[in-house]
Amino acid sequence: MKLYFLGGGNMASSIIAALKNQYSDLSIHVVERYPEQRETLVQRFGVSVSETLPTLQKDDVLLLAIKPQDMAAACANIQTNGALVLSIAAGLSVDTLSQYLGGTHRIVRIMPNTPARVGLGVAGLFADVEANDDDQAFADKLMSSCGQTIWLKDEAQMHAITAVSGSGPAYVFYLLNALQAAAQAQGFDEKTAYEMSLQTFKGAVALAEQSDLSFGELQQQVTSKGGTTFAALECFRKHQLDAHFIDGVNAAAERSLEMAKM
Ligand SMILES: NC(=O)c1ccc[n+]([C@@H]2O[C@H](COP(=O)([O-])OP(=O)(O)OC[C@H]3O[C@@H](n4cnc5c(N)ncnc54)[C@H](OP(=O)(O)O)[C@@H]3O)[C@@H](O)[C@H]2O)c1
Repeated sequence: MKLYFLGGGNMASSIIAALKNQYSDLSIHVVERYPEQRETLVQRFGVSVSETLPTLQKDDVLLLAIKPQDMAAACANIQTNGALVLSIAAGLSVDTLSQYLGGTHRIVRIMPNTPARVGLGVAGLFADVEANDDDQAFADKLMSSCGQTIWLKDEAQMHAITAVSGSGPAYVFYLLNALQAAAQAQGFDEKTAYEMSLQTFKGAVALAEQSDLSFGELQQQVTSKGGTTFAALECFRKHQLDAHFIDGVNAAAERSLEMAKM
């Protein structure tokens, strides 16, 4: 069995890095059109590379890691020969992929996120009708090396997972950036403000991980009525920050749906 990646860009590199950490003997081949990128992949991961996809065998696995807009053209010349196909392309349904790939339904769709690079990702997975238990177990093992896996029963939930965990790291960076800006507005220099913000997030996440309390209860623990945190949270509430946040996630899910229709 060989694991082929079609596309050796950002997301493929993140997944390969995590896989190589855990399964050093896994045979990986990357198909990538840029010669410089092929060279980088060989140097970084010791994988084999080529410009075009070699002939697939039934026990091979093909992971599609190119941009959705490139998919139709790239798949036009692929004979899957019964191999399992995994796709991380945003917005492309299993039916669309099946059409591109000559009718196979041995497909598992995956929505990863960028913390996969450090083994702390979240991936949503959905199995098409011909992906059997072994196929699903393989996909799960693959993505578990990059973090947590969440299996979806309904493919439509892919839009929701895209909006929550797929785009989620950007929301966290947005909040980190806002906290750093607030710290600088309080007079701290850029570097100190950066470190304070990052460590505050890390500390709060570690605290939440070690606690049985909900996020709301943890928030209450540092909020005494009339105190400093209370003053900040009242300000957030007045501006309906949480409602805006929910609107933002809704907008991402709606955009994912629109893109799938396109
Ligand atoms: N980045 C994320 O946060 C993220 C999260 C979840 C899912 N995804 C999904 O992951 C997929 C890949 O995203 P990415 O950010 O890793 O993209 P990327 O960095 O652009 O990587 C794709 C690579 O594949 C190459 N390529 C395109 N068509 C090819 C072909 N026919 N044969 C060989 N190589 C080809 C591209 O070359 P060119 O530059 O010439 O196109 C590029 O080097 C996308 O479908 C995206 O929806 C990404």
